[in-house]
Amino acid sequence: MNSPDILFEKLWTHYADVNPQAGAIHRALQERGESVVNDHVAFRTFDFPHTCIEVFARPFIECGYRFHHEDYQFKEKKLFARHLMHSDPHYPKVFISQLKHGQCSPRLQSCIEELAGQVPENFMQNYSFLTSGAVWKPVAFKKYQDLLRESEYAAWMAAFGFRVNHFTVSFNHLKTFKDLSEFNQFIESLGYPLNASGGKVKGTSQTLLEQSSTLAYPAKVSFADGVYDIPGCYYEFARRYPTPDGELFQGFVPVSADKLFESTNNPDLQM
Ligand code: NI
Repeated sequence: MNSPDILFEKLWTHYADVNPQAGAIHRALQERGESVVNDHVAFRTFDFPHTCIEVFARPFIECGYRFHHEDYQFKEKKLFARHLMHSDPHYPKVFISQLKHGQCSPRLQSCIEELAGQVPENFMQNYSFLTSGAVWKPVAFKKYQDLLRESEYAAWMAAFGFRVNHFTVSFNHLKTFKDLSEFNQFIESLGYPLNASGGKVKGTSQTLLEQSSTLAYPAKVSFADGVYDIPGCYYEFARRYPTPDGELFQGFVPVSADKLFESTNNPDLQM
């Protein structure tokens, strides 16, 4: 069995490269004397047989990960998600969502089919796909804007493809913050705005999971007709509470996740 360490190191480097705020926040936490542990790492994909969650998850299964029994539906955003966990709880959970293309408009469907049609059949057999980005011919910027109007998720995928969407700091492993609100103030004091959709803290101690996130950092993307700055990846923060049996809750809360998907939605940068 492969060790997930090398894989996560590669994923972090690739992610921090497009999202320098993550590296800066990570360093600021270390300077405070904190050591950062990841709660989960999230990916996005399309629901075709050669790109779906089950195929996407293979490198993690080979590293000792197993699917958690729960799955998640996001009706309005037309998304479906599952997550995987490692037997060693030190390793982050892996959250993978996919766009249910069949539920999208015919126009969006044909665009997504065109993108996914350019992904080779066995593309996901090699680990390197996890850092491959947009493997299709770049779309025109106008097409990206067109996608945005129906599905911000589809537009993000068209521009960024297969890569980490966000890493998530485990609040439970931090020692110098009273609560997630105080932590959020620290992030804002560093100059990074937070996603306020649904409030800065999503979830409560009753839902057993509180989450917050930065707004996606602008990234330069080469479109068919030029380079544009658009929202890239974001950094997330999660605080988990114990279930009645005393163990920390290990699932996700769909109402909160629904809002967190919007961390890559920054209208100022997209138009
Ligand atoms: Ni997340």
